[in-house]
Amino acid sequence: MTMRNRFVTVEGVEGAGKTSAVAAIVEWIKTTHGAQVVSTREPGGTALGEDLRSILLNHRAEGMSSDAELLLMFAARAEHLQRVIKPALVAGHWVVCDRFTDASFAYQGGGRGLDLQRIDALAQWTHPDLAPGLTLWLDVPVAIGLARAAGRSAPDRFESEKQTFFDAVRNTYAQRQAAEPARIKRIDAEVSITEVQSQITQVLTEAY
Ligand code: TMP
Repeated sequence: MTMRNRFVTVEGVEGAGKTSAVAAIVEWIKTTHGAQVVSTREPGGTALGEDLRSILLNHRAEGMSSDAELLLMFAARAEHLQRVIKPALVAGHWVVCDRFTDASFAYQGGGRGLDLQRIDALAQWTHPDLAPGLTLWLDVPVAIGLARAAGRSAPDRFESEKQTFFDAVRNTYAQRQAAEPARIKRIDAEVSITEVQSQITQVLTEAY
């Protein structure tokens, strides 16, 4: 069996069902491994990160430069790594994170069109020594995800983007999954919650 670290991330477009997936993963880890689990999210997960999240999602930041957006995502990530993710992993706990660096490739790279190599340079700077052991990519057609998300709350700055933006986000996730199939597992998220959860359990069981 491959040795994976205990850092599990969840990715996908808006409305893919990440929140339920994170809950299912946490539950699986607790019952199967009896281990402590830190459940967190990006951007966010620390006081500074949550402040940056408010800035990033608020419509006041409409038209923010794509570079500023990318750098703020990584600023939040640097804080999150130092204060939450790394200490938890060092303590032997599991970390389940709703989004991580794959989201910067998908949204700022795919969605905004930033050069993927520049994003990679920031990833190397911020976490040269750490990548998720497993990433679950919840894949859903953009129109379906957006319709689900629209039923929840007033759209934030990202949720207000056009379908073409999210198509590029989804395509970038697909490319990353194809490039790193051992780490990134695709979950068909178009089906019922029960069916999504059974796919998640299967992937976790094979991985750990
Ligand atoms: P969510 O976590 O509630 O889905 O919202 C976070 C938003 O931030 C979502 O639209 C994706 C976006 N995002 C990026 O654009 N880049 C990133 O690196 C991360 C972590 C999130």
